[in-house]
Amino acid sequence: MSPRLAFLALGLLGAVGLSWADPAAAPARPPRPSLEGLRAPPGGSWAQVLQGDRVFHGELAGGRCSNCHGWDAKGTGNGNDLTTGMWIWGDGSLRMVKATLMHNMAVAPGMDGELTPADVDAVAAYVWALGHRQR
Ligand code: HEC
Repeated sequence: MSPRLAFLALGLLGAVGLSWADPAAAPARPPRPSLEGLRAPPGGSWAQVLQGDRVFHGELAGGRCSNCHGWDAKGTGNGNDLTTGMWIWGDGSLRMVKATLMHNMAVAPGMDGELTPADVDAVAAYVWALGHRQR
């Protein structure tokens, strides 16, 4: 291959690479979980579920849950699916979800200092609701 051709080929490869890196060309993010079929947990309120939805999706208290658990809460390589009703930690009760948040998650309050106790209660209620959707 002549140096000129090689240069051309490299340029072409670069252009393809650039268009891959173009954020506008990135796949759309999955849909946000529908509120339909969700309900408040025993001992929690619907207002908490709504607040927790906002924390989960980074609209309140600097929540970062959806970064790892996915915008649709169905998991990414960095966090598991929270919508199946099956749990790694405990039985999925509100108490267990909250305990997991407080003790196991990298985002536990006191570690990132952004979620107030009320935000933790709210996002726990939301995660509970996701795992107990009425189908
Ligand atoms: C940095 C990535 C990351 C972030 C941010 C994150 N999580 Fe997680 N989360 C994980 C991983 C990984 C696991 C699985 C942990 C394990 O197996 O020990 C997990 C587990 C959980 C569990 C337990 C699930 C089960 O099956 O028992 C819950 C509930 C949970 N996360 C909720 C949240 C909430 C709510 C937020 C936001 C306040 C959050 N996570 C933010 C990575 C993350």
